[in-house]
Parts: sequence; structure tokens; C-alpha cells
Amino acid sequence: MFKGKIAVVTGASGGLGQAICLALAQNGARIVAIDISEERAHVAVETLRTVGYADAIALTANVASAESVAEAFTQLDLLTDRIDILVNNAGVREIKSIFDLAPGEWDRVMAINLNGPYYCAREAAIRMRDRQIHGSIVNIASVAGLVGIRNRPAYCASKHGVVGLTKNLAFDLSPYGIRVNAVAPGAIPTPMTEVYYSDAEFLKGLEHAVALGNSGTPEAIAQAAAYLCSPQASFVTGVVLPVDGGFMAEKSFASNASKTFNTAAAST
Ligand SMILES: NC(=O)c1ccc[n+]([C@@H]2O[C@H](COP(=O)([O-])OP(=O)(O)OC[C@H]3O[C@@H](n4cnc5c(N)ncnc54)[C@H](O)[C@@H]3O)[C@@H](O)[C@H]2O)c1
Repeated sequence: MFKGKIAVVTGASGGLGQAICLALAQNGARIVAIDISEERAHVAVETLRTVGYADAIALTANVASAESVAEAFTQLDLLTDRIDILVNNAGVREIKSIFDLAPGEWDRVMAINLNGPYYCAREAAIRMRDRQIHGSIVNIASVAGLVGIRNRPAYCASKHGVVGLTKNLAFDLSPYGIRVNAVAPGAIPTPMTEVYYSDAEFLKGLEHAVALGNSGTPEAIAQAAAYLCSPQASFVTGVVLPVDGGFMAEKSFASNASKTFNTAAAST
């Protein structure tokens, strides 16, 4: 599916990043693994090597810095003149109310989660346009980019921004044959979310809020990202695809109402 194609993945050594790299590599792409430190980028590449994908490239970039991103893409130019796929996956999260979240923490989340995808998409799109490559960009947003989630003002704002960026770029890059889509994961066990998964209250809430009754896997997110990059999605652009076990399907007044209803029904 991706034979001969070069796929750049940011946050490549994280929980979802590794799964995305693997899914693209299994379908024939050569992976360019970008992460915040040399050590982390090498972890991503070594993980791929151990399962038989020896040609992956490690690059270091802080996606929050336009200069650092530009430098990484310049290094990539020395290695290959292709870039077919970009997956903007690097991200961070602060769980704090607006009263506790310091302006510096807000800035950091916005810089990594929203500026990062803009900087990387810009570098990738310039190259795709100039080299007439009909590429694909996938942004890893979140269900927090579609609805409000408590105690995450910066995270929700940044992910809503990523959704807006996706929709804009779908139009602005369409004349060059570049498609831009997003995946909106629900709760997935990764290093980012491991604190939740030891919390019984969280697990109980998940049972109630997720139609499929449990959490998804990094592989489920990776398969969705791979589909959006693939020729099978050739007429798909500007889409934000929730991969959330049905969380978004009942994210409304009805979810609270049905909780009340179910409780009432159970007691009669
Ligand atoms: N895990 C979930 O439940 C979940 C749900 C919705 C959305 N997401 C999104 O998925 C993406 C991946 O999350 P994850 O769960 O794999 O988290 P993770 O913490 O396992 O991985 C995040 C990765 O981003 C990298 N990173 C952080 N700051 C960076 C920077 N400034 N420059 C370059 N790389 C940087 C980290 O080194 C790490 O490799 C994030 O954008 C996150 O918001 C995750």
C-alpha cells in the first residue's frame, strides 16, 4: 500500500507513535521517526528494527519550535527527496482547572499540540507541493477536540485548534492533491494515560461512557491513521474520525439522562 513511500511520524517513540510507525511500515512505508530527543527517536527506530524494519530514520526535533522543525526537515532533505505522509502525533496534556493552570503551562501545551502540527504540516506541504507529490497529512487530535472534557482547558483548546487546522488545510492543500485528515482517539492506554488506568473510578466511568465498554488499543488508532493515509481514502479529506469505542455517540445531555434513567430503573 505504501511501497516506496516516506512517512514522517512525530512523537514516534510514544504509545500511539510506535503503533503508527509499525502500521505504516507493515504496509511498506519507510519511516522517519521524529521525537524530542535523540534517545527517544532512536528508541522508535530500534523498536522498528527489532521487528524487521531496518531502514527507518531517526530525527530529533522539538515540534514546539519552528526552527527545530525546519532543521529536521532540512536534514531529511539530505537523505531523501520524498515525503509522502506526515502524521502529526506528538502531544502533551495538563490536567488542571483554569484556576491552577499557569500561563506558561498553557503556552507549552499550545506550542506542542497546535503550533507543532502547523510547523510540521507547513514544512511537509512545501515539499509535497514543490515536488508534485500527492501526499497525505494526518493529525492525531482527540475527542477533546470535539467536546469539552473537564480540567483540560489548554488540551481541549489545542485539540479543537488541530481540528480547525485539519479542515482549513484540507481546502488549502487540495489544489496540490494533498489530503489532510484527523483521527480523534478516545481513551487509549499509553504512557500519557497510564495514571488513569490504575484508577478504579476512571475505569468505572469508562465502562459507562464508552459504548464498546472498554478502552481501545494503540493499534486501533494506528489502523485508522493508516487508512486515512492510504489510496483507499483517496476521496477523503477534511474528516475528523473518532476512534473512541462510541464515546462521541452519546456525548450529550442524554448520557447524563440515561445514567439517571438506568439508576432509577435499577431501583424499581
Ligand atoms: N492516549 C490517549 O488516550 C490519547 C487520546 C486522545 C489523543 N491522544 C493524542 O495522541 C498523541 C500521542 O499520545 P500518546 O498517548 O501516545 O502519548 P505519549 O506520551 O505516549 O507520547 C507522546 C510522544 O510525543 C513526544 N513529544 C512530546 N513533546 C514533544 C515535542 N515538543 N517535540 C517532539 N516530540 C514530543 C514524546 O516524546 C512522546 O514520544 C498525542 O497528540 C495525544 O494528545 C492520546
